Order: sequence, then structure tokens, then C-alpha cells
Amino acid sequence: MRIPFIAGNWKMFKSRIETVVFAREFKELYKDTDVRTAICAPYVHLDTLKAVFEGTQIKVGAQNVHFEDQGAFTGEVSALMLEEIGVDYCIVGHSERRQYFAETDETVNKKLHKLFETSIVPIMCVGEVLEQREAGTEAEVVKKQLHRGLAGIREEQIKKLVIAYEPVWAIGTGLTASPLQAEEMCGIIRNTIDDLYSPEAGDSVIIQYGGSVKPANASEIMNMPQIDGCLVGGASLEPVDFMQIIDF
Ligand code: 13P
Repeated sequence: MRIPFIAGNWKMFKSRIETVVFAREFKELYKDTDVRTAICAPYVHLDTLKAVFEGTQIKVGAQNVHFEDQGAFTGEVSALMLEEIGVDYCIVGHSERRQYFAETDETVNKKLHKLFETSIVPIMCVGEVLEQREAGTEAEVVKKQLHRGLAGIREEQIKKLVIAYEPVWAIGTGLTASPLQAEEMCGIIRNTIDDLYSPEAGDSVIIQYGGSVKPANASEIMNMPQIDGCLVGGASLEPVDFMQIIDF
């Protein structure tokens, strides 16, 4: 039985005061459900969110991490530092990091290995860009990201992993992959995990869809059998919208 998991990715949005206002309002609206919930926020707001959400089921995630424990890496934050403040999840390999910050399958792989040394659950993002979708190579692209990104990751670790399928052409564009397109790709991801590990591993890995998820399309997406959750960008910035998605 896979537990649905809906996470927000705030990207580089919200001031400190906006974070507090959101967190208090969301905590009021939030009802314990069978859906796991997390907000992945900028580093500087993680402590604040942990404090406001204390005693609730709402979890907190980071959006990136460095793969070394410590060192002369100006501007970076380690997995140990995140673990120390109680961070529950960490996004790795988001397409914006691949596009603007030179993230590669190799750095994704190093980050996953490092996070698996801690209690933090990685949310590994994969997905094709528009030209790849138009060329019909989306399955090949995503399989390659999985093969390379998961090199050396063991089966018992895979069972803890969350994979987010985010077609880059559907992020922040208002274009959503149709539920069937998303379902098909999430099925391909699950089959790839079956092949790389075992059917049992494929069965237990949580696969999210991300890309223009809104209250209006959440239930259709969440009702797809291969889709276990969503990674929500823009709509996670508004407490009412995000709660409606969780309530799909
Ligand atoms: P939007 O929901 O704003 O399209 O963003 C999706 C995303 O990138 C989540 O990580």
C-alpha cells in the first residue's frame, strides 16, 4: 500500500513574514488526512516552518543539498545541516537546477547517496523538455536519468525514495500533461524500478507528478493508479489552494 504524498515546492518565493502568515493559516486549515504532506521551502525558512508545524503531521523539505558533509563550498548547505534542524525531505535534480545551476545526473546521484546516509527522504525529479517530448524520446530520457541518477543506490534505499515526474514543458506554463500522459510516464518509471531492482521495489516507490497541478485538476491526476502524489509549485503558495489539492 503506497501512501499518497503531496508536497509543495515554493521555489524562491516568500519573505519571512509571508512564510509565518502562510504557515499559521495552513496549520489552521490542515486536517489530518491519509495524505502525507510537506512544504519544500527556501533554506532560510525551514526552521520557521518546523517551529510553526511542530506537533502536526505537516513535514518540511529543502529544495537542494550539497553532496559533501562540510568543506570550502561557499554558498552550499550539507545534508547533515538539514538533518540537524529536522528537515524531513529534500528535492534533488529539479529541472530548474538542471537548467540554471549545472545539476547533472552525476551530481543528483552523489546527492542521493549523501541523503541516504541521513534520515532525510529524497524527492528525485526527472522529466523531459519540450523538444524531447516532440521527438518522442521522453521515455528514453527519463529512463537514462533514472539509470544514472540511481547508480549504486541499494534496493532497501529505493523503497524510501520519492520520484517526481515533472515534464519540463508543463512547469509554470499552465500546460499540464494530460492525466493519461502523466500516468503513462509514471508507469514507465515504475517499470524501470522493477527492472533495475525488483517488482517489490517498483511497487513500494512513491511516484509524484508535477507541472501546473491546481485544485481543479488534482483529483483527476491523483486518481490515476500509477500516480501516488503531486509536487506542486505555484499552487502551494496559497494555503487554501494547497489544502484543496491535499483534499483532492
Ligand atoms: P508549477 O506547479 O508551478 O507548474 O511547478 C511545478 C514544479 O516545478 C514543482 O516542483
